[in-house]
Amino acid sequence: MSITSLNEGQNPSARPKVTTITIHEKKQRREPITCLTAYDYATARLVDEAGIDMILVGDSLAQVVLGYDSTLPVTTDEMLHHTRAVRRAVKTAMVIADMPFGTYQGDPKEGVSNAVRFVKDGGAEAIKVEGGDKRVDLIRRILDAEVPVMGHIGLTPQSVHKMGGYKVQGKDLSGIERLMKDAVALDRAGVFAIVLEGVPREVAAMITREVAAPTIGIGAGPDCDGQVLVFHDIVNLSFAPPAKFVRHYGDAAALIRQAVGQFKADVESGGYPSDSESYHLPQETRVDLEAILKRKEMKVHAR
Ligand code: KIV
Repeated sequence: MSITSLNEGQNPSARPKVTTITIHEKKQRREPITCLTAYDYATARLVDEAGIDMILVGDSLAQVVLGYDSTLPVTTDEMLHHTRAVRRAVKTAMVIADMPFGTYQGDPKEGVSNAVRFVKDGGAEAIKVEGGDKRVDLIRRILDAEVPVMGHIGLTPQSVHKMGGYKVQGKDLSGIERLMKDAVALDRAGVFAIVLEGVPREVAAMITREVAAPTIGIGAGPDCDGQVLVFHDIVNLSFAPPAKFVRHYGDAAALIRQAVGQFKADVESGGYPSDSESYHLPQETRVDLEAILKRKEMKVHAR
């Protein structure tokens, strides 16, 4: 089998499979890159069918799906469970899994084997780690294990305690210098993309011009090579005051409230289910059953 037929065989749908190469070429062609998070089969399917380039199984799972108040508690097993569900749904988008807090900040060997689990057991095509310069050694080792890496700098939610809260980063000259150093270090280490979260537009634009890797912004302004948002945020399902950069593209909360309220009202009023929403016996079984019930009734009356 030739290499071409192998690739075609993997993707019978019209849209070609998105890979790290697609993402790189989009930057070169200055075509905006799209990315959304997803954590389950249904939403990942819809996001993929809409033609989004990359689906991130973000550790924001901890907050928007599991109800924790930060990303810190989510475990590798929980992330893997959701990565597998997303994997089963997605045909075309590139699936990236977030490495949870505490699974890569320590022993690099452990970091590599945790990264490999996301590909081997979760079906992810890449992993994401937070941090810049200080992650370079780990990133090189993960790449050596053949796993593509997405970087993430700026407001990195796993550093919430160190940052003293969720704060925009790179607002003064030393912050800008640090961010630029981190971005260049990640780029040189070979990441296929860099998430820039919570940084001033001007700084994101400078980094985007400086690095070869595509920058994917979230709260980083319009000059990045692409944009990522949390799925639950864009459909108003996150139960939190939206950050400045969040745009609601739909109101799933209102839709679900309306549907659930109507179901409750219909059941309580006897309006659900109707006869046409019920299964029925076949005609001959009904006739036989009626005859049996009639004989039983006659016996009772004869006593
Ligand atoms: O976990 C997450 O959702 C993220 C963002 C970049 C969207 O890391």
